[in-house]
Amino acid sequence: MAIKQNSFLGRFPKTRLRRNRKAGWARNLVAENWLNVHDLVWPLFVQEGEGKRTPVTSMPGVERLSIDILIEEIKEAAAAGISAVALFPVVEQDKKSDLAEEAYNPENLMCRAIKSVKEAVPNIGIICDVALDPYTTHGQDGLVIDGYVHNDQTIEVLCKQALVQANAGCDVVAPSDMMDGRVTVIRDYLDLHGHELVQIMSYSAKYASSFYGPFRDAVGSSDNLGKHSKASYQMNPANGDEAIREAALDIAEGADMIMVKPGMPYLDVLARVHEQFSVPVFAYQVSGEYAMIQAAHQQGWLDGKRAMLEALIAFKRAGATGIFTYAAKDVAIWLRDHTQHHTSLMKAS
Ligand code: PBG
Repeated sequence: MAIKQNSFLGRFPKTRLRRNRKAGWARNLVAENWLNVHDLVWPLFVQEGEGKRTPVTSMPGVERLSIDILIEEIKEAAAAGISAVALFPVVEQDKKSDLAEEAYNPENLMCRAIKSVKEAVPNIGIICDVALDPYTTHGQDGLVIDGYVHNDQTIEVLCKQALVQANAGCDVVAPSDMMDGRVTVIRDYLDLHGHELVQIMSYSAKYASSFYGPFRDAVGSSDNLGKHSKASYQMNPANGDEAIREAALDIAEGADMIMVKPGMPYLDVLARVHEQFSVPVFAYQVSGEYAMIQAAHQQGWLDGKRAMLEALIAFKRAGATGIFTYAAKDVAIWLRDHTQHHTSLMKAS
């Protein structure tokens, strides 16, 4: 229980809170949160081809990788202690369709990537998005019927997509589409097919956000989506209480883990969800958040490393169990070099 009476906590001059901040070791000693390499999930973009790395212009330092290169990167991530990777496919235009059939083709890019990574790097978790946007000609996360993203018919396709991914060796399916009721139906479908150990990480509170812009460039869905928005299924940024209802429903439906997304603009939502429910909750530092820090760093307007570590420790402070960040590999290296706390990187006086 929080102590409300300030008199309990002392008074100046006997009490000086700056004492505990007088040196790096002291600040470290009293730190309430630490970033750990095992907290990290590294999102990666996979593309067709061999020996291919294609930079994502709007995400400095991020590349789309062909499967062979992907494996090499993931080997390094596993060696550094990163717990899991989240894979996103760059689907070729001629594979996209109105009904997103490629999403449940067992030989699609995603399934081939999952199989290869699982075989080459068995000791890292593989998380896969369950949503149709990489596969639809219109870039929406579901099937569009009479101008509306149809909830229940979309779920049928999501189930088939989740199943081919689970069959390929995916450890965690992550529905990111915000259809109502999809967690329970996907859970039943996976169980029916013998996948009761495949976890579901539900993007429970996913907002209709402009911070996804660079991601849509990376997977090549922004042109398809054009000026259309996802506001009929992703949440209104104005709402907080509604996120609690979304999370409660997903937990009741059997989600093993839940997510709040984007990260930094929604720290209040993350903190509320964490306080309300005893389930692992993840923060996603999305593409736009990553891009902002990188861009400002490139301009010399801030120190990208310190800003990144500060942003990530904020997720821990707000209650995140784990964090998705495109900077995961860099962060893993910084942590290994013991420069993990952003305040220990600063010369204090
Ligand atoms: C697809 C999906 C998106 C992201 C993750 N899965 C984009 C969207 O909903 O339009 C965004 C991730 C990011 O911006 O880093 N459903």
